Amino acid sequence: MFEINGRTKHLAIIGHPIEHTFSPKMHNFISKKMGLNYIYTAFEVAPEDLGSAIAGIRALGFSGINVTAPHKRRVMQYLDEIAPQAQMLGTVNTVVNHNGRLIGYNTDADGFYRSLLHNGIETKNKDILILGAGGAAKPVCVMLAQHTPKSITILNRTVSKAEELASYIHKTTGFSVETEKSRKHYDIVINTTSAGMAPQLERCPIEDMSFIDRNTFVADMIYNPAQTVFLRRAKENGAKGINGLGMLIYQGIIAYELFTGTILPDSIYNTIVSEVFGQ
Ligand code: ATR
Repeated sequence: MFEINGRTKHLAIIGHPIEHTFSPKMHNFISKKMGLNYIYTAFEVAPEDLGSAIAGIRALGFSGINVTAPHKRRVMQYLDEIAPQAQMLGTVNTVVNHNGRLIGYNTDADGFYRSLLHNGIETKNKDILILGAGGAAKPVCVMLAQHTPKSITILNRTVSKAEELASYIHKTTGFSVETEKSRKHYDIVINTTSAGMAPQLERCPIEDMSFIDRNTFVADMIYNPAQTVFLRRAKENGAKGINGLGMLIYQGIIAYELFTGTILPDSIYNTIVSEVFGQ
């Protein structure tokens, strides 16, 4: 057990609301495992207090913070520099204090990519179907477009939002995204919608899932519940799949590495899954 003392460095997450966050548990667990003298707490910051909160981070010399809804976009104006990936996504989830300069990063896209790699899934030359076109879809699409898939198709209940996201992806990455389901088979199908998450527990983002079979890999970005209706139905069709826990953990691992400048051992992932999330 590490001791909090005069040399303890500070990390935190800010959001509104914030009480359900898993981040303090996960980051403090990593610090304890690694024997690093950091403490990570959570702060409820109302939108009108965001500027003061960031000034506080500077004044108190925090090593870094994670940023969650609703601050991920607006926080950018208070920072000294935005890393390219965060610039491309237009949102920041990690701020690192580099000797007084606050630099904004986004670890969501890389977190999702690492969770695919962890499951042996390559995206190169794959036909990929994305369900949903909201905030969660954007980092996934930007990341995939940068990893040379064969095709990306975005399907959304509100078609205009799918078209908007497709044109954003084309503009930022140069990759042309489709918005109609024109193929019989997709190698990877990803649910980025909130259908299946409380209070929509019984919902599934698509009705006809007959095109999903044992040659399909499915990823649901929802981690609570651990198995959505979408994931259950896909598995009944023989598909292999993962929920969003991997992304949650990897975006945190990458943020921790940025905060501390320490590369964590690969084994930390499985340790977090079992000891923090009990799975
Ligand atoms: P955020 O930007 O915070 O992710 P959002 O814009 O509400 O939130 O996006 C949620 C996504 O889930 C959207 O793609 C939404 O579809 P619409 O754009 O048509 O609203 C999708 N979604 C939510 N509930 C759904 C449902 N029951 N069936 C299908 N898609 C759903």
